[in-house]
Amino acid sequence: MSKAAESSPQGKEQTVGIDDLAVYVPGLYLPLEGEFARIRGIDPGKLIKGIGIEQMAVPDAHEDAATMAAMSLLLLMKRSGLEPERIGKIYVGTESSADEAKAMGTYVIGMLEQVYGRGSFRECGTVEMKAACIATTLALESQSYWLAAEDEDKVGVVIASDVAKYPLASPGEYTQGAGSVSLLLKKNPRLLSLEQVYGHFTRDENDFFRPMGCTTAVVNGKHSNQCYLDAVTGAFDSFAARAARKGLIVPAAGGCVTDSLDHILFHIPYPRMVEYASAAIFRHDWKGCQRRLRVEEEIGPEPGEGDYEDKAAFQAAQADYARRFARSSQFLEAFSAKVKDTATLSRQIGNIYTGSIYLGLASLLELDRIQTGQRLGFGAYGSGCSALFFSGQVEAQAEDLPGLGLMKRLEERKAITLADYEMLHEGKREKSVVPPEQEFVLAGIDSQGYRHYEFVE
Ligand code: CAA
Repeated sequence: MSKAAESSPQGKEQTVGIDDLAVYVPGLYLPLEGEFARIRGIDPGKLIKGIGIEQMAVPDAHEDAATMAAMSLLLLMKRSGLEPERIGKIYVGTESSADEAKAMGTYVIGMLEQVYGRGSFRECGTVEMKAACIATTLALESQSYWLAAEDEDKVGVVIASDVAKYPLASPGEYTQGAGSVSLLLKKNPRLLSLEQVYGHFTRDENDFFRPMGCTTAVVNGKHSNQCYLDAVTGAFDSFAARAARKGLIVPAAGGCVTDSLDHILFHIPYPRMVEYASAAIFRHDWKGCQRRLRVEEEIGPEPGEGDYEDKAAFQAAQADYARRFARSSQFLEAFSAKVKDTATLSRQIGNIYTGSIYLGLASLLELDRIQTGQRLGFGAYGSGCSALFFSGQVEAQAEDLPGLGLMKRLEERKAITLADYEMLHEGKREKSVVPPEQEFVLAGIDSQGYRHYEFVE
């Protein structure tokens, strides 16, 4: 574990990392089986098994990415007993910003000051970061360096907040969702100490983008899956090389890097994607180690380019091998032990873009799947495209953190009809489906385009 700075008063080496987190999910959802599948003409089996989604979170008429960000921050502050004066920086990762210039964090602070008092966040710095779904992770990396040097007992907050939105009836539609995650970053954190090894990968791509003025994303679906896999694999290699150079993860002869990771959390645009990502990473990582031999015993060797007459035949053999690898017992066992559970909440919420990977952490916490001393690997992805792979170690106090209550929250949500969902999607519904209570609302947008938010008791 790398040392953030000097030793703490207790003599323990100081680390920086995630002390706590809170998740806000809108109170409405659209069930995908039934009416949605029927009207769109999609086999429910495709949605539930092929994509991995059962329900999509939908923001009500009074919600936007800023209200959701304020809600997750309020939840975090309440559960951690955090006072505004203690927060040195709030970085917001989002690709759903409603303003081209004003940082979302200033709206969020305006909302929180309605609860904590005007001026209570005056000394807090805030910036909005945009890098598609990886922005929050880049914010976390950036804050980790600041925290390591911070000497006034301040803490940092990183907020992810997004509404994942594609055109109605498009193939992206069933991978939408909405929600916000707030992460509390601190020295000597209770939950996860970051190991401060970051592996990056970046390449200019047209896989997914949202041109100025558009409310929905443009996505080249299949290409976006491939960009994701290439980038996460590239970032994993960069992480592995850096971790080896630092002496953090040095696999023994015949061993591999993923043997040192107890759980791997990937960005979750839809749950099936973490299966594709796991297959790509395990297959790649196992190439140089004993496990490859066990896979070969089960499904035979990987196709070699020289064994085929032309490129098309080689590609077909590769695709067939990938399918067999994804069904091999070696892969299924590793996937089940290290990755599968990270997608539990996403099945009921959908994509929340910048926060999806941390929804994976919330899933592990809700399922009680993490233990002291375990190493978690994170494979973040942002379209456009870039990836970042990093790791952290679970701290002893993680087990004492109060539950997030997310399963209960999901049960309490209201299912909406396809008609209501379409009205909300198109911004045509003015009245809230569920009247707001104890939450922030978008009260109106004035003639200058300034947004007014209120806390409703
Ligand atoms: N029963 C069970 N499974 C079925 C089925 C049925 N009746 N019918 C189809 N399937 C399976 C398919 O076989 C396929 O599985 P395999 O890969 O194992 O073969 C799976 O369902 C998906 O089906 P399709 O390949 O037909 O997928 P699609 O045309 O519906 O497109 C998508 C899927 C590309 C993800 C599309 O929903 C999309 O464009 N989504 C938005 C973009 C996106 O999420 N990209 C992910 C990477 S980019 C990123 O990560 C950033 C981000 O957050 C956006």
